[in-house]
Amino acid sequence: MTAAVPVRAVAAADVAAVEALVAEAAAEDGTGPLSEDGALRLRALAPAEVVPGELAAGVVHLVSTAHGAPGTVTGYVQVDTSAPGDASGELVVSPRHRRGGAGRALLGAARAAAGGPLRLWAHGDLPPARALAAAAGLRRVRELSRMARPLGAGAQLPPAEPPAGTALRTFRPGADDAAWLALNAAAFAHHPEQGRWSTADLLARQREPWFDPAGFFLAEADGALVGFHWTKVEPGSRTGEVYVLGVAPGRAGRGLGRVLAVAGLRHLAARGCAEVDLYVDGDNAAAVRLYSGLGFARAALDVQYRSGD
Ligand SMILES: CC(C)(COP(=O)(O)OP(=O)(O)OC[C@H]1O[C@@H](n2cnc3c(N)ncnc32)[C@H](O)[C@@H]1OP(=O)(O)O)[C@@H](O)C(=O)NCCC(=O)NCCS
Repeated sequence: MTAAVPVRAVAAADVAAVEALVAEAAAEDGTGPLSEDGALRLRALAPAEVVPGELAAGVVHLVSTAHGAPGTVTGYVQVDTSAPGDASGELVVSPRHRRGGAGRALLGAARAAAGGPLRLWAHGDLPPARALAAAAGLRRVRELSRMARPLGAGAQLPPAEPPAGTALRTFRPGADDAAWLALNAAAFAHHPEQGRWSTADLLARQREPWFDPAGFFLAEADGALVGFHWTKVEPGSRTGEVYVLGVAPGRAGRGLGRVLAVAGLRHLAARGCAEVDLYVDGDNAAAVRLYSGLGFARAALDVQYRSGD
């Protein structure tokens, strides 16, 4: 019998090797193995990136290594244990080291770190992830769709007027931070990731090269924020993203989401984006209907597996 693949805690000096492995896996699989959140948390471990007080507490980072060569990283898993009883993570093995037991070893270590149920994202719904999940007895519990539509110069976008008493403006970094975080938490109260965003999560995005307040729309009524549409365009990219769109629970169902969506799409078209995409939970029927009505169609699927119960 072959010995179990060694797994150890990540060191700051491993970050570059893990990022290279993540890029190699993305090229091989046609989809990146980490979410934006996961990639930001990984990068925050690199010595030059550490901002005191902003390292996510309770996030465990582990690597698998080659037998007899602890410096050679073959795989990586990240587990967020900050919410008691609801650990979640992402796992990737280098394409050059697959089918050697690294995935199984990392999954075992991640389950031990979780100490209870563990949710794992598999991006792209690929056969190796399905096979590993089946072999390890994980259940498929959630789906996230990537939806996309063409944009371009001739794109037809419906007119959209805010409801009476509601005005649109753009985000002011600093001044709007606290009110936006409160609105985001209310709009995504039932969302396991988005609804938990902290000041540190917001500031990390504001420091990203893509951050542009001119593409971050707010709806205001009676002096309070009631909705938002934050768009995102990576520098040099012609694909825009509906990054986060939310409406205050008391204002839902009155067409404000559609108005905000269209305002963002117009902005992305004016910036020259040829395509726009977004991620939406498969069971969020209202959002899927809104986006389908605006010409979006499903382009890819991410799957969440769950273990431990
Ligand atoms: C999924 C992934 C992590 C598997 O890593 P791995 O190191 O190749 O997996 P292991 O060698 O530990 O395989 C463990 C078991 O999973 C199953 N398995 C894994 N890959 C498989 C494949 N390509 N075909 C069939 N079965 C597979 C097998 O049952 C295997 O046991 P066996 O080798 O005794 O038959 C790797 O393919 C990967 O990084 N994929 C991209 C990222 C991803 O999808 N992550 C989400 C994981 S839930």
